[in-house]
Amino acid sequence: MKAIVLNEYGDSSHLRLTEIPEPKTGDGEIKVKVAAAGLNPIDWKLRSGDYKAFMPIQFPFVPGVDVSGQVVELGQGVTQFKVDDRVLGFVKRGYAEFVTAPIGAWAPIPKGMSLEDAAVIPLAALTGAQLVEEAANVQGEQTVLVTGAVGAVGRTAVYAAKARGARVIAGVRQQQRAEAEKLGASMVVALDVDAELASLPTLDAVVDTVGGSTLAKVLGKVRNGGVIASALGPPPADKERGLIGKGMLTHTDSKRLAELAKAVKAGKLRLPIAKRLPLAEAASAQRLAEAGGISKVLLKV
Ligand SMILES: NC(=O)c1ccc[n+]([C@@H]2O[C@H](COP(=O)([O-])OP(=O)(O)OC[C@H]3O[C@@H](n4cnc5c(N)ncnc54)[C@H](OP(=O)(O)O)[C@@H]3O)[C@@H](O)[C@H]2O)c1
Repeated sequence: MKAIVLNEYGDSSHLRLTEIPEPKTGDGEIKVKVAAAGLNPIDWKLRSGDYKAFMPIQFPFVPGVDVSGQVVELGQGVTQFKVDDRVLGFVKRGYAEFVTAPIGAWAPIPKGMSLEDAAVIPLAALTGAQLVEEAANVQGEQTVLVTGAVGAVGRTAVYAAKARGARVIAGVRQQQRAEAEKLGASMVVALDVDAELASLPTLDAVVDTVGGSTLAKVLGKVRNGGVIASALGPPPADKERGLIGKGMLTHTDSKRLAELAKAVKAGKLRLPIAKRLPLAEAASAQRLAEAGGISKVLLKV
């Protein structure tokens, strides 16, 4: 089968379309013929070597964690899916014509949703939901700031925190304000405008998808004992003020993934796709997405 292969750490020019053996379907796994693979920041963080210290990769490496497609083979003991089912999954080795993964990684694609639309959902949607529901454990009466709110994870965090009844503040860049107004948050704050930062109310929680100096700037607004849940590793926690810092690594969750896909289908959660490129153009696709300022990019396989 064709796949995108990386043989050493480096820039996106190291991604090569290569012929490799099809993966074998293990017990409790399904094999899926991939229709589309969504790109995520983890793809270039792994490729570049930025994550070498705590997430080293084995070469030859096939990137990609988000795919959609149709089931072509069932492993021993699989009863939850059947051949030809349309599925989306949070997997490994996704930039390829075929992917195998345990059934817990997969969920059915809602009727009427295209395979391409489904491919950008898994990691971002699971991460946004798990930050809100598991790491921060947001409650109904709370005031919650989501940083990077028009990003893919941020959008889902806004959706999930609103669904819990929280008062949600969408934290974005000034030039993203118009897009952020469409999220239905209680308030939009441009985090790069000092006067707007100063206007933030006291926060019970921050759900962070940006990190660094942006997160540092809002910490003073979190109430004593408040929670900071970050997608970018353990955030700085001020022990004297009892701030609770929670880093998080996204895990597979078939049931929640199915619900989030239904929310996208119903238009309650939007994950816009900016660009669709063929698998062979994975290098250009990563270059484009890595530069930022763009919504989801996917590879048509
Ligand atoms: N821990 C985990 O398991 C896990 C899982 C998934 C994702 N993540 C991480 O979560 C982060 C977000 O992922 P994503 O898929 O949502 O990426 P994304 O779609 O690119 O979203 C990031 C958003 O943050 C915005 N942003 C960046 N710097 C900002 C700043 N200083 N102020 C305000 N907004 C800023 C970006 O705007 P621009 O596009 O204009 O830069 C973009 O809208 C990534 O770092 C990713 O690696 C972690």
